[in-house]
Amino acid sequence: MVAAESAEAQPVLEARGISKGFGSVTALENVDFEAYPREIVALLGDNGAGKSTLIKILSGALRPDTGTIKLHGREVEFHGPRDARSNGIETVYQDLALAPDLDVASNLFLGRELLLPGVLGRLGFVNQRAMRQQAQEHLLGLSVKLSSARQTVDTLSGGQRQSVAVARTVLWGKDIVILDEPTAALGVAQAAMVLQLMQRVRDRGATVIFISHNMPHVFEVADRMIVLRTGRRVGTLLPAANMDQAVSLMTGAVSAHSGDAAAQAP
Ligand SMILES: Nc1ncnc2c1ncn2[C@@H]1O[C@H](COP(=O)(O)OP(=O)(O)O)[C@@H](O)[C@H]1O
Ligand SMILES: [Mg+2]
Repeated sequence: MVAAESAEAQPVLEARGISKGFGSVTALENVDFEAYPREIVALLGDNGAGKSTLIKILSGALRPDTGTIKLHGREVEFHGPRDARSNGIETVYQDLALAPDLDVASNLFLGRELLLPGVLGRLGFVNQRAMRQQAQEHLLGLSVKLSSARQTVDTLSGGQRQSVAVARTVLWGKDIVILDEPTAALGVAQAAMVLQLMQRVRDRGATVIFISHNMPHVFEVADRMIVLRTGRRVGTLLPAANMDQAVSLMTGAVSAHSGDAAAQAP
């Protein structure tokens, strides 16, 4: 979907008036956020702008001090990440929660293991074969290239690890995938691999919320960009904008004005 059309569609996820403080620090102040079906929406902002705090609130890891969240138009309150997950929101946090000594298949099914049929399953025996087969099929479907789903995660490259983490969210996330700085620690080729994967996930119909301070990465894949500065939403950019506009918004050199085709007021 092109972002200009999204005004017509109903957001899958919508937050209004979100504020969050940590002691004397105001991390977010009256922030609105919306994400539409089948789009990659980026959250842009300098370090400390409030990006991670906002996605922690959207993914149930933090409770906002004020504000409301709507999912598919219905108001929700998440009492933890599990709550958000069971509502179809999967998150890859900056520090990946993969188990390095387990193989890829086990990581994809971590916490949701397939059990053997019958009494063995009731005794908690997992069905490794079924998990490996489904893992291979899933990774193949997303064009994630690994030599085998039996590889342990600690033998993978950074890009492959990130891809496994993203593939895992897609396997379980029905509607919304949130990625916090998924390309931050990656080289050029590995980052390209993860960016392509994000586009595939979007093209399958999911919403991808992409947090990054890497401007070229954001401009390469984002359908829309929401810019935060010191805890406030300061503008929305479309891909037709240029990076100078984004930097200006992020640093406060200029403010967005609605006369600009590519930049909109918050
Ligand atoms: N748990 C916390 N305790 C105290 N301050 C925090 C905490 N989390 C974030 N902050 C502060 O809130 C502000 C926003 O942080 P954060 O959301 O991590 O920004 P970003 O992800 O954009 O770099 C920063 O000033 C940060 O220091
Ligand atoms: Mg952060």
